[in-house]
Amino acid sequence: MLPDIQLNHRDCKEGMASQPAESFDLVVTSPPYNLGIKYDTYEDRSERSDFITWCLEWAAEINRVMSEEASFFLNLGASPKNPLLPHQLLLALTEAREGESPMFVLQNTFHWIKSISVETKDKGMVSAGHFKPINSKRYVNDCHEYVFHLTKSGEVPLDRRAAGVPYVYKSNIARWGHTQGEDKRCRGNTWFIPYDTIQQRDKDRPHPATFPVALVEQCIKIHGLAESTRMLDPFNGIGSSAIAAMRQNIASYTGYDIDEGYLAVTRQRIEAEQQQTPELL
Ligand SMILES: C[S@@+](CC[C@H](N)C(=O)[O-])C[C@H]1O[C@@H](n2cnc3c(N)ncnc32)[C@H](O)[C@@H]1O
Repeated sequence: MLPDIQLNHRDCKEGMASQPAESFDLVVTSPPYNLGIKYDTYEDRSERSDFITWCLEWAAEINRVMSEEASFFLNLGASPKNPLLPHQLLLALTEAREGESPMFVLQNTFHWIKSISVETKDKGMVSAGHFKPINSKRYVNDCHEYVFHLTKSGEVPLDRRAAGVPYVYKSNIARWGHTQGEDKRCRGNTWFIPYDTIQQRDKDRPHPATFPVALVEQCIKIHGLAESTRMLDPFNGIGSSAIAAMRQNIASYTGYDIDEGYLAVTRQRIEAEQQQTPELL
């Protein structure tokens, strides 16, 4: 069954303000990072303090529309010249403000690894993934971003093994009681999720700052895949979260973006996904 998908050409703060309190179980999003990315509509450069103030405004709406047991997965990246930005925003979201309790508790920190090189047992080297190379004498290539898992209480139960991986040493399955005989262990907080290889940027990924569908799928699974899950992405972009909602078969998806062009691409992606998965039709 196709999730109930609502795409809204609207400012997310206004859009969320029109939603009832506690109407979502899961929020997965990647806001603009204020790093000067060239979006078609949004101007991605403002004073740092203005940017943080704006983030606190939309985050307060997210908090209001989240149910008590909801998870908010916030993807944030930095740039070599602005390495502290994700942490500054995270502090603002989690510290107590005068007379008020903190908006969110940081429950988990995930590292989205875009590219990695691993030495093999025979001293070979395997490299996988993609990253944007930089030309610099002082900075190395930035191959990761953060996914901060924020909740209202810090005590939201997760389905750790839903996004788990098989044991390397199968004898551990019987040896350790906590495995309950299942060949799946918690993956931990380092997620290697490469971008899909594309041929033509304009045609295959017409947006300057997307996250992979698989990253969102991982968040859906860890939160605990329930068919009744109501998911929100306030910064829809070209709808990677919508496609993840379809692939994970959850109940509903609501997305906002101020750019009609990006929403049009989202609709095309949804249609293409339906063609590939006829049972969704
Ligand atoms: C980092 S991108 C999200 C990309 C998305 N995760 C994807 O994979 O396609 C941020 C998006 O936020 C949108 N945006 C900026 N300000 C907004 C606002 N006030 N309300 C809704 N969307 C906004 C931009 O147009 C941009 O598409």
